[in-house]
Amino acid sequence: MISIKVIGIGPGGADQVTQAAVTALNKVDVFLVADKGGRKRDLVAARQEICDRWITGDHRFVEVPDPVRGPDAERDAAAYGQGVADWHRARTERYRAIIEADPRLTYGFLVWGDPAFYDSTLRIVDALAVELPITCDVIPGISAIQLLAARHRVPLNRVGQPFLITTGRRLLEDFRAGLDVVVMLDGHLACRELTGRDLEICWGAYLGDAREVLVRGPLDEVIAELITTRADLRQLHGWVMDTYLLRPLSATPTHSSRSPSTSR
Ligand SMILES: C[S@@+](CC[C@H](N)C(=O)[O-])C[C@H]1O[C@@H](n2cnc3c(N)ncnc32)[C@H](O)[C@@H]1O
Repeated sequence: MISIKVIGIGPGGADQVTQAAVTALNKVDVFLVADKGGRKRDLVAARQEICDRWITGDHRFVEVPDPVRGPDAERDAAAYGQGVADWHRARTERYRAIIEADPRLTYGFLVWGDPAFYDSTLRIVDALAVELPITCDVIPGISAIQLLAARHRVPLNRVGQPFLITTGRRLLEDFRAGLDVVVMLDGHLACRELTGRDLEICWGAYLGDAREVLVRGPLDEVIAELITTRADLRQLHGWVMDTYLLRPLSATPTHSSRSPSTSR
């Protein structure tokens, strides 16, 4: 059997890696790392740093050039879904070729945050398992969602209530009054369209690493500054990864900030 470990490594910082992940990291012979090129090379470097910090024995990093994806913003939902499926298929083929070359080794995928949230590694491993004899262990990691909640010291749901996790692409469609919403994968701060609804935003960028920035306050009051801050950070670092919680201002206890706050 070919052994694969899918390891959640947290949202960036080496300190966000769990003890279970460290144990699993030390059992892997070859890490398969998608190389998305350009500015995303920072993410490959961050994974390398985590391995250097936590792995004591030998291991190999194989950077697998990621197939090119067209621009998502211009696609409708069906074309978007097809584009992602084609991309996954191409990725799967590349990994399969490497694994087949030496099936006796233990292969590892380092998943940003937790594999359960907006990550396709497990779908890719399932696709590999259709053609190869694979056993797979999944080690959960701290998600950006959890770190966001911890940094702002908020629970994501109110007592007994559900909350929604969605993307910037779907926010306006999925949003409904009264619901607490966590937004990921939002390159344009889609929440700018949700002013005038008495919402609070708890926003975090580069959570878990030295560049971390937090902004919190009534959406109507902070959105203009947040748009500028995000653009400046993107300019400074070349890319931004941010996540935010939107919730009714009425959910904010009186002792916490109803007024804007920023911390870096
Ligand atoms: C492809 S998803 C991966 C999510 C990941 N599996 C997790 O559990 O956090 C990428 C999105 O996660 C969020 N994210 C990941 N790392 C982050 C970080 N360090 N700070 C803020 N947001 C982050 C952003 O919304 C980003 O667009």
